[in-house]
Amino acid sequence: MRFAGKTAFVTGAAKGIGKATAISFARQGARVVLADIADLTETYEQIQLYTSNVMKISLDISNEADARNAVEAALKRFGRIDILVNNAGIFPLSDFVNSTSEQWKKVIDVNILGTMYLSHAVLPSMIENHYGRIVNVGSVAGVYGLSWFVDYSMSKGAVIAFTKALAKAVSDKGITVNCVSPGSVAPEGSDVMKEFSFVGRAGTYDEMANVILFVASDEASYVSGQNYLVDGCRKQM
Ligand SMILES: NC(=O)c1ccc[n+]([C@@H]2O[C@H](COP(=O)([O-])OP(=O)(O)OC[C@H]3O[C@@H](n4cnc5c(N)ncnc54)[C@H](O)[C@@H]3O)[C@@H](O)[C@H]2O)c1
Repeated sequence: MRFAGKTAFVTGAAKGIGKATAISFARQGARVVLADIADLTETYEQIQLYTSNVMKISLDISNEADARNAVEAALKRFGRIDILVNNAGIFPLSDFVNSTSEQWKKVIDVNILGTMYLSHAVLPSMIENHYGRIVNVGSVAGVYGLSWFVDYSMSKGAVIAFTKALAKAVSDKGITVNCVSPGSVAPEGSDVMKEFSFVGRAGTYDEMANVILFVASDEASYVSGQNYLVDGCRKQM
């Protein structure tokens, strides 16, 4: 099994990309920590089909104490966290000219600070183990900038820059840090949003999870500080 003996901590695991990622880790032998502000029962029950080494943690990643307590609880149960997937995020549509600073602050708190809080909380134990994989989930918005997601684009640009800088700070400690940036994603990769990519359809949650698992695996031991665009060869908008 590819992730036997590894513990993967996945935020935003209640649905979407995070749920698909958590299930994929479990299918491939990992112990899994599910973390979300929303109800995790569905993911938890599906994972029971593959392993009983799963725990669910209710947290708000934009709350630093929640992030630290969650990491502490996971370390208490499993002894180590080998992989952190900072996937949870919010993406409110924004007409920037008419938007409020309240919305920007929320986007910054969840998408940027949430990613930083959890990374900061897991790093001491990863450094002690001289092993770790941090996988941040970015977005094409953070690379190209999307006019209907101005504050969100800014936040994901920050996540990509954080990835590159943190990778330089910790890659000599056995820890890699990478980012996976989805394009348009829809539950079954249907042809909704087909005009956005040359592949001609949206990506599936599993197609995002596949790349997240690759950078989280031992096969990617020499990959750090990278941002993988998983966007079906996106058309520029
Ligand atoms: N879906 C897409 O088309 C797309 C495209 C590019 C990037 N992304 C990124 O991928 C990631 C996952 O997206 P998704 O489509 O699966 O989204 P989703 O909305 O289906 O799931 C996000 C999960 O994060 C959780 N979450 C939100 N705020 C939280 C908080 N403060 N604390 C804890 N959990 C919180 C939600 O409860 C939810 O379960 C996000 O970071 C998103 O920005 C998604």
